[in-house]
Amino acid sequence: MKKFLVIGNPIEHSLSPVLHNYWIKNNDIDAIYEKRKLNENELEKLISQVREKKINGLNVTVPFKRTIIPFLDELSIEAQKTQSVNTIYLKGNKVTGHNTDIIGFETSIKKLDYNLNNKKVLILGAGGVVPSIIFALIKMKVSKITISNRTREKAENLKKLFENIELTEWGVVPNFDVIINATSLGLKKEDKINLDFSSISKNKFFYDVIYNPAETNFLKNGKKLGNIALNGKLMFIYQAFSAFKIWHGIEPDVNENVIKLLDR
Ligand code: ATR
Repeated sequence: MKKFLVIGNPIEHSLSPVLHNYWIKNNDIDAIYEKRKLNENELEKLISQVREKKINGLNVTVPFKRTIIPFLDELSIEAQKTQSVNTIYLKGNKVTGHNTDIIGFETSIKKLDYNLNNKKVLILGAGGVVPSIIFALIKMKVSKITISNRTREKAENLKKLFENIELTEWGVVPNFDVIINATSLGLKKEDKINLDFSSISKNKFFYDVIYNPAETNFLKNGKKLGNIALNGKLMFIYQAFSAFKIWHGIEPDVNENVIKLLDR
C-alpha cells in the first residue's frame, strides 16, 4: 500500500486527508493519506523516507513550505521562483519539490470565468501562500500587484522574489479591481479586517483564500457593496487535484460531492 502525508504545524484542521482519501477510494487505488504534525528538526528524516520509498508523496503546509527546501534534491521552476513547496514526490531517484498552489489559484479564477488580464490587484497579507498567488497573477497578466501587510518587512521580502510588485502601508487602500485576503483574519468568524472600502465603486472582485468559514466578514462586506466574492475552496481543491495527478497519474473528479466534503 502506498503512503501519502500532509505535514504542518498545526495540522489538526487540514482537510487534505478527507479529499485525497475520497479520490483514492473512488479510483480504487491501494493507498492511504494521513496528516502528521512535525517539528522542523524532523524534516530531514522525513525526506529520506521519501527517498527510500517508505513514503510515496508529501503535501506541505504552514510553516514548512519554505524551510523544507534545503532537504530536497530538485525543485520545479514554480517552486524555485516562489521559494515555496507544497507537493513532494520522487522523480527518478530525486526527491522533487513542486508548488501546486499556483495552479490551484489560477484554476479557481478560471472556473469563475473571470479575466484577470490587465487588472489591478491588491493583496492583503504576505504569508506562506502569497508568493504562489503573485506567480499566478503574473502568469495571468495582471497590470499591477500591490501588497499590503501589517509587518512591512515581510512584504519587502516578497519584493526580493518579485521585483515589480508594489507595497503599501497596512490600512491604506489604493485603487483596485481585485482584492485578495491572504491574511489569517477571517479564520475566526468574528474576525474583521479594519479597512474602509466605502469609497470604492462596484463590480470589484473580492477573493478570500480562507474557505472555512465559507463566508468571512471580508467576503460578506464585499458582496454587500455589490461586488463579486469567491472563497478559497476551489483553490484548495485544485491544488490537491494537481498533487493527486502527479502522484497517481489520474485526474480526479471535482463535483458537488467533492465540494461538499469541505463543508464543515
Ligand atoms: P506565516 O506568516 O507564518 O506564513 P500565514 O498564516 O501564511 O502565516 O500568514 C498570516 C498573514 O496574516 C500575515 O500576512 C500576517 O501579517 P504579519 O506578517 O504582520 O504577521 C497576517 N495577519 C495575521 N493576523 C493579523 C492581524 N490581526 N492584522 C493584520 N494582519 C494579520
